[in-house]
Amino acid sequence: MEGKNIAFYAQSLDGYIAGKDGNLGWLNEIPNPEHIDTGFYALMEEIDAIVMGRNTFDVVCGFGGTWPYSKPVFVLSKSLTEIPKDYQPYARLLNGSPKEILEELHSKGFFKLYIDGGRTVHDFLKAGLMDELRISYIPIILGEGIPMFQPLPKSIRLELLKSEVYLGQLVQNHYRVRKA
Ligand SMILES: NC(=O)c1ccc[n+]([C@@H]2O[C@H](COP(=O)([O-])OP(=O)(O)OC[C@H]3O[C@@H](n4cnc5c(N)ncnc54)[C@H](OP(=O)(O)O)[C@@H]3O)[C@@H](O)[C@H]2O)c1
Repeated sequence: MEGKNIAFYAQSLDGYIAGKDGNLGWLNEIPNPEHIDTGFYALMEEIDAIVMGRNTFDVVCGFGGTWPYSKPVFVLSKSLTEIPKDYQPYARLLNGSPKEILEELHSKGFFKLYIDGGRTVHDFLKAGLMDELRISYIPIILGEGIPMFQPLPKSIRLELLKSEVYLGQLVQNHYRVRKA
C-alpha cells in the first residue's frame, strides 16, 4: 500500500505556528460557538497514525483534559527515554531519519500519517517525504514566534488542491507537494 504524509496546522500571516514563548492563544480567538470542525476530525478519520515532534507532544500533554487524538501517536525524540506513564496508552517513541521512521511505520501497517510539529514537518519536507500541506491561515501578524519553515537548500513547488473559508475569517488551503 502506498503511504501518504499530511501536515495540518495553523499559521499566522507571517508564518509562525506559535507566538513568543510558545503562545497559542491566538489560535482560538475566532469565535466558533457551534464548534464547527475546521478539518481536524475529518483528518482523524482519514489517517492511520500521527507522527509528532517531542516539542509538540510536550505542548499537547500540557493541555491536560481529554487526550485529543483518536489514532496512535508516535513521538519523535532523541532525548526522551520513555513516554511519561500517563500517556503510555496513547503514544509510543520513535527515533531515526524521516525515511527510517516511515519504513518502520509502514512495516507496522500505518500508511496514512498526520505529521505534526515545526521541525518535524520541515525535516520530512526537506527529505521529499511530505505529500500534502493543509494550512489554516489565521488573520494575525504575530511579529515573532516559532516559524514553520527553516531555510531549505532548494525551493519546493506546491499545487493548490482546495481552498475554503471557515468561520468567515480562517482561510484553509490544501496543497499537494510536487515531487522534484
Ligand atoms: N499552529 C499549529 O497548528 C501548531 C501545530 C503543531 C505545533 N505547533 C507548535 O510548534 C511548536 C513545536 O514545534 P517545533 O518546531 O519546536 O518542534 P517539533 O517538531 O514539535 O519537535 C522537535 C523535536 O522533535 C524531535 N525530533 C524531530 N525529528 C526527529 C527525528 N527524526 N528523530 C528523533 N527525534 C526527532 C526532537 O526532540 P528531542 O529534542 O527530544 O530529541 C526535536 O527537538 C510548539 O510550540 C507547538 O505548540 C503549532
